[in-house]
Amino acid sequence: MSSNGSHDDMQPITPQQYEILHGGGAEAAEIARQRLSRRRFLRRSMLAVWGISTTAAVAGALYFMYPTSGGDFGSAQNVGKKTDFPAAKPEEMVLNEKGVFYIPAARSYLVHLANDAQYLLSGQNLQDQFQLENVVHDGDGSTWVALYQRCVHLGCTVPFRNDCVSFKCPCHGSHYNVNGEFLDGPAPRSLDRFDMNFKDGEIIINTGTINSNVQHPDATTQLLPKPTKECSAGG
Ligand code: FES
Repeated sequence: MSSNGSHDDMQPITPQQYEILHGGGAEAAEIARQRLSRRRFLRRSMLAVWGISTTAAVAGALYFMYPTSGGDFGSAQNVGKKTDFPAAKPEEMVLNEKGVFYIPAARSYLVHLANDAQYLLSGQNLQDQFQLENVVHDGDGSTWVALYQRCVHLGCTVPFRNDCVSFKCPCHGSHYNVNGEFLDGPAPRSLDRFDMNFKDGEIIINTGTINSNVQHPDATTQLLPKPTKECSAGG
């Protein structure tokens, strides 16, 4: 094979073909045409492979820039219509029936507090605390929050307990109110929560944006009263 790169894609020819080529005529023209076709085919194949690779790279970049609404955990997820999640007052919540709903794909509890829920703060203090705790106002006066299911102590999944209308971690007993506020136990802060918003009557939970900064509440920051029912020993 020639050291010249332009000949690398050409098949070696047999001694008989060499004789014909150098003799000229129709047979020589046919052999030359076949070799040229092969070279064109190889070039087109290389261009096609390059095109597919480039398209895949661009598609991947777009996916990360604009996550789809039906995305995996770590991206924005459309979890359904608002009307699928009826609101309730804190003391009346029942898991997956009213007020609090487990969303496995988002690893979240979606909490919908009724417009007549009683808060411990009011006015600007209440609005500021809503913002700090990713609580979203709805047009009907109800509020929503999307809580990450993971206990902020050592990471166990925290169940919602209907018997004491609150979240109680089975691992070391950390206890959180319906809106994720810390109640007692070894957890260093309140439950983490995700950004959420509404789009055309549906709920988008952005599991790529987490708020891990809600501290133990005190008299100036606590939103909801503690639940009055004790958790039963059996869970
Ligand atoms: S992991 Fe939940 S209390 Fe320890």
